Amino acid sequence: MIKVNDMNFVRMIDKKDIKKEIKRLGKEINKEFKNDSVEVIIVLKGAFIFAADLIRQFRFDHNVHFVQFSSYAGTQSTGNIFEKLSLSADVKGKRVLVIEDIVDTGNTLEFFIKKLNEKGPKSIDIATLLFKKEAFKKEYTIRFRAFDIENKFVIGYGLDLNEKHRNLKHIYQLKGED
Ligand code: IMP
Repeated sequence: MIKVNDMNFVRMIDKKDIKKEIKRLGKEINKEFKNDSVEVIIVLKGAFIFAADLIRQFRFDHNVHFVQFSSYAGTQSTGNIFEKLSLSADVKGKRVLVIEDIVDTGNTLEFFIKKLNEKGPKSIDIATLLFKKEAFKKEYTIRFRAFDIENKFVIGYGLDLNEKHRNLKHIYQLKGED
C-alpha cells in the first residue's frame, strides 16, 4: 500500500503481469497488421510508457504520431474535452492504430475517433492498457485490451494523479472508493 495526497492506493497489477500481458497483446496486434503499413497514434500523456513497451513488440511497418487531450481534474473526469496537441499526420486511406492508457467513459476516444473519421482512414483500431468496462457506454469497439478493471481510479505505469506518480512501476488502485 502507498499513500499519495492523503489517499491510500493498493497495488492492483504487478509489473511482471503488465510485461506478460503486453507480450500477449503484441502478438495479437502483430497477427492483425502483419502485411500492413500502420499509422500508430499514441495518446499523451498517460500512454507513453505503455506505448514504448508495446511498439517494441511490433513486427509490421508503422509510423508513430502523438496527440493529446485533456478532460480529467484530480480523480474525476470533467466531461469537457480539449485538444492540446492535434494530429498532423495524413491518415487518408491508411490503417490506424490508436494507443491509449485507459478507456473510462470513452468520451475522449469518441471525440478523437470522430475527428479521425473525417480524415478518411481505411480502418481505425484501438489498443488500451486498461479498460473500465462498467463505465464505458459507447458504441465503438475497443479491440485490443490488456486488462479489464473495476471502475476505480488508478495510477502508475504512465497514469497520473494531477500530473504526478507516472513513474510508479506497478499499477495502483485507490482504496475504499465506492
Ligand atoms: P474517458 O474520456 O472517460 O474515457 O477518460 C480517458 C482519459 O482519462 C484517459 O486517457 C486518462 O488520461 C484519464 N483517466 C481515466 N481514468 C483514469 C484513472 O483511473 N487514472 C488516471 N487517469 C485516468
